[in-house]
Amino acid sequence: MKKITVIGGGNVGSTAAQRIAEKQLAQEVVLVDILEGVPQGKALDMWESAPVEGFDSAVVGANDYAATANSDIVVITAGLARKPGMSRDDLLLANTKIVKSVTEQVVTHSPNSILIVVSNPLDVMAYVAKKVSGFAKQRVIGMAGILDSARFRLFIAQELNVSVRDVQAMVLGGHGDSMVPLVRYSTVAGIPITELISAERIEALVTRARNGGIEIVNFLKTGSAYYAPSSAAVEMVEAIARNSNRVLPCSAWLEGEYGLNDVYCGVPVKLNANGIEQILELKLTDEEIAGLKKSADDVTANIKKLDI
Ligand code: APR
Repeated sequence: MKKITVIGGGNVGSTAAQRIAEKQLAQEVVLVDILEGVPQGKALDMWESAPVEGFDSAVVGANDYAATANSDIVVITAGLARKPGMSRDDLLLANTKIVKSVTEQVVTHSPNSILIVVSNPLDVMAYVAKKVSGFAKQRVIGMAGILDSARFRLFIAQELNVSVRDVQAMVLGGHGDSMVPLVRYSTVAGIPITELISAERIEALVTRARNGGIEIVNFLKTGSAYYAPSSAAVEMVEAIARNSNRVLPCSAWLEGEYGLNDVYCGVPVKLNANGIEQILELKLTDEEIAGLKKSADDVTANIKKLDI
């Protein structure tokens, strides 16, 4: 890839830019923020690590979008982060304004880009980016499921004292308290976790995964998680940049899949250079479908509050 831009040079954005550069996913990584000097300083500092880390990507910081022109992928992390006592939904109106203005400028300068939305509340911000950009649904994707699944995978690995590399999990639904971890599709080296962990303990791990974001907010107090969120976003960037047909849980615009319409919701998708190449439809149990529907209804209720 020629150019990947990250909008928002805060915790998530700068860590994502660093991971993208270190993986050499693009010739140029551009970091944009409204704060004067901050993206320039962080980008130069990052670029100065290149001789030691051994990457050839250029890292450039900017306040305006000219530097982002013709980006192949744009990761949107601009916006406010949560503080203790706040839900992701509390960020709704402030971040809608920010994501709207960011998207308008991204579209002007990079009309052919693929957008990965990270700002919260995630599924609603993905909707804002899609609506404002007018891009095809394949090219506006929300990051949530990989993060929620990663948390669940870690907790499973800790529970069984096994390598995280052998743990697979799938978390669907919106990126909120009503997310839907698919326990029967969660495995350790192919073995369903239901055969390895008691139902009671699985329930405790599911609850911890659901509350994974707030657990970090309560520790940090001044902001929210960023190491795992940036990893998750960059896994999506990598699948697109390397055209690798990865199957990953992402927030996608649904038009009838899983019986859901006109809403962003976390589902398994195939990601490649076109963005979302395909949405995979699993056969879910009635209980799982009900959970997914409730989660999607929560997203729809927030979309209805918007005036865009
Ligand atoms: N354009 C560009 N950058 C902006 C804009 C804008 N219009 N508005 C705010 N920003 C920048 C801020 O200046 C700040 O540097 O976005 C950055 C956000 O960084 P942090 O406050 O560190 O927040 P972070 O932890 O990175 O989270 C960003 O991602 O995970 C979500 O919930 C999280 O919505 C939040 C977003």
